[in-house]
Amino acid sequence: MILRPKGTIDWFGNRAKMLKFVEKKLDEITNLFNFEYIETPVFEYFELFHRENENSDMVKKETYNFLDKSERKLTLKPEQTASICRAFIENKLYTEQDIKKFYYLAKNYRYERPQKGRYREFYQFGVEVFSNKHYLIDAQLIFLLDYIIKSFKLKNTKIHINSLGDNQDKKNYNNRVFEYFNEYKEDLCYDCNQRLKDNPLRILDCKLDNEKEFFKNCPTSIQTLSEESKQYFEKVINVLDKLGINYCIDNFLVRGIDYYNNIVFEARSSIEGFNNANVIGGGGRYDNLVKELDGPDIGGVGFAMGIERLIDVLLHNNEFINQIETDVYIIDTTNLDKHIALSKLLLDNNLKVDYNLENKKFQTLFKNALKSNPKYIIIIGDDEVLNNYYSIKNTKTMTQEKVLEKDLIRYLKGEYYVD
Ligand code: HAM
Repeated sequence: MILRPKGTIDWFGNRAKMLKFVEKKLDEITNLFNFEYIETPVFEYFELFHRENENSDMVKKETYNFLDKSERKLTLKPEQTASICRAFIENKLYTEQDIKKFYYLAKNYRYERPQKGRYREFYQFGVEVFSNKHYLIDAQLIFLLDYIIKSFKLKNTKIHINSLGDNQDKKNYNNRVFEYFNEYKEDLCYDCNQRLKDNPLRILDCKLDNEKEFFKNCPTSIQTLSEESKQYFEKVINVLDKLGINYCIDNFLVRGIDYYNNIVFEARSSIEGFNNANVIGGGGRYDNLVKELDGPDIGGVGFAMGIERLIDVLLHNNEFINQIETDVYIIDTTNLDKHIALSKLLLDNNLKVDYNLENKKFQTLFKNALKSNPKYIIIIGDDEVLNNYYSIKNTKTMTQEKVLEKDLIRYLKGEYYVD
């Protein structure tokens, strides 16, 4: 038997329903915030991600790279931001408006060690805003992230925020972190010894080393911020306070990709056992990326959320499952195909409908109907046909009523009650 590739998911059943539900809700929310949908190819030229300034493990070690038949070097997108910057530049979208706000839901590919919440193929929902740098844009995006968290009723989820400062601040911080950890070289894990050489900031993310005593006094990025970066950070924080957003300042938050400067943030869930999968989303400002890709000098800020992780949290909280319902399930025991005309009537009235096709005992049909989680079950039996009514079971209260066809739609929509 051929199995699915390691680290991938077959979407079916409840998780597939959740995927569609989450997608719809995120569409609605981004619409409210007036973002426009963008979609770019699944693969891009290798050079788009493998840039001189990008030394993250994600790009260096985890990308799926291949040559096409004409020997072009391509990469399956490991993330969307660089690809959307490319589309923004290539299609001159910066000429359209001063601020461009995009959202996406797309698949990403990373050759990671598969584990809970960490896959080789995964969905990200995300947003990217391109404009001149303004603290209100950063604040609006963090507000959007908070709005999503609240809309999905994600309990135990907090937004962590930090600032890496501008290019110079970031360089200074990198040097300070290098100097600090260089003193503890012998105590660092194998990977962090490597990071010390390539990308010292990544040590701050290490789940092994951050438990160690020497870690506690590591310098924070806030200590190296210029006055201007400090003020920018404070302005963002002030707006978040005014909006009542549930956040915390996290001095060790650095993020895993190198294009960030200034504000960085993550939404983290504190559900036990989620371990590394607790980061539901993350992002930040990237003022140099568009320019680095030969575009104009326009800044960007955005975030992306892992859809599989979001769904894991929703399933764990038992949230929303009951909202994914069929309006009506028809059980027809008469062999008269009455349900075909009835289902058309219901569909014409925008009601979601399903029905049985098998000729089984009523009890079995009823049990099967409940699996579709309908609000109502309409029963068509011999007496119903003879006397021209429908028996309607409310699956919440398990009460049953007789309703005439003329009253049916109003009854199902809650506009008519049986005396
Ligand atoms: P990222 O932190 O690499 O950032 O990914 C964002 C989110 O995608 C993570 O917080 C996580 O929920 C999810 N994720 C990442 N890797 C995996 C995986 N292997 N399996 C399942 N879920 C995963 C970015 O990708 C940036 N492009 C975000 C951004 C947008 N920054 C600015 N704009």
